[in-house]
Amino acid sequence: MKIMLIGFGVVGQGVAGLLGARPQLDIEIVGVATGTRGSLYLVDGLSPHQLLTAIQSGHLDHYPDAPGLRRNLDPLQLIRDSKADVMVECSPSNFQTGQPAFDYCRAAFASGKHVVLANKGPVALRYANLMGFAGDQYQVRYEATVMAGTPCFALGEKYFVRENGCPISDIRGILNGTTNYILTQMGDGMNYAEALAQAQQLGYAETDPTADVEGWDAAGKAMILSNVFFGNQLRRNEMSVQGITGITQADIASAHAAGERWKLIVQVTPAGASVQPMRLPISDPLAGVSGATNAITFKTPLLGDVTLIGAGAGRAETAFGVLADLLDIQRTLGR
Ligand code: HSE
Repeated sequence: MKIMLIGFGVVGQGVAGLLGARPQLDIEIVGVATGTRGSLYLVDGLSPHQLLTAIQSGHLDHYPDAPGLRRNLDPLQLIRDSKADVMVECSPSNFQTGQPAFDYCRAAFASGKHVVLANKGPVALRYANLMGFAGDQYQVRYEATVMAGTPCFALGEKYFVRENGCPISDIRGILNGTTNYILTQMGDGMNYAEALAQAQQLGYAETDPTADVEGWDAAGKAMILSNVFFGNQLRRNEMSVQGITGITQADIASAHAAGERWKLIVQVTPAGASVQPMRLPISDPLAGVSGATNAITFKTPLLGDVTLIGAGAGRAETAFGVLADLLDIQRTLGR
């Protein structure tokens, strides 16, 4: 299966790293496009190792020459011209318009490609349109958009809803790794700025970390869950969204003294969604979820609450979600 990557930051490089380590998977990267660091196309397949070496030295222009190699196509041209089976959209998420990723998805369908998204924008803001343009012919996967590679859609959407007819009535969780990491580190005495810098360095934060700390990344995930599980396209101004920027070290210390923990909690119901910091008693299972780990609780009429806890951000962690989607498409194509 041939794939192309739009975006080659933390997630794209993570995908190249996983594929480089597993050549037996028969998934080839034929194209890569970045915003400012060049693009490459080679129908016979680019070397994941050489892609990583080139980007680590600052620009894809450092990739060695090869017969048939094309450089510096713009993303739309690369999407239209490349003989890829799947486009992977892993450029930075835009939580206001979902662009330009949405147009890239349209171009991918129009040129015969399935789509895997780590980019949250189009799934959060234009889910019905996205599925409409894909039609019956093209597949769209988005496991990495919520909880990185922890399989919340494989469990909730595929296993519960689609395969076993077990509806989900309500969802609650910790869905942003960066803020949970910051709150955890602040609980251990680190200051806010240092904890945020670490979260960026570890590849947890968005390109613009304001989206994390002000709650918009978590709100984007709430919109995705609302679309997928309740068929309800929320608008940003319909949700109550509050981040963690108002929480001080003193707030955290006073919660600790009372046997409680601050967590940024997402709640999604068929009627709407909210994102807000909450003080949870230590007896609440979500209170013990620390670092960049995320958790999601699906409320089901048949099983009661089912909670999935696992990685919520990070390079290999998110790339694994993309890889799982690629392998799922590969299976459905019978390859
Ligand atoms: N910035 C996001 C987070 C990345 O911290 O959770 C994963 O979506």
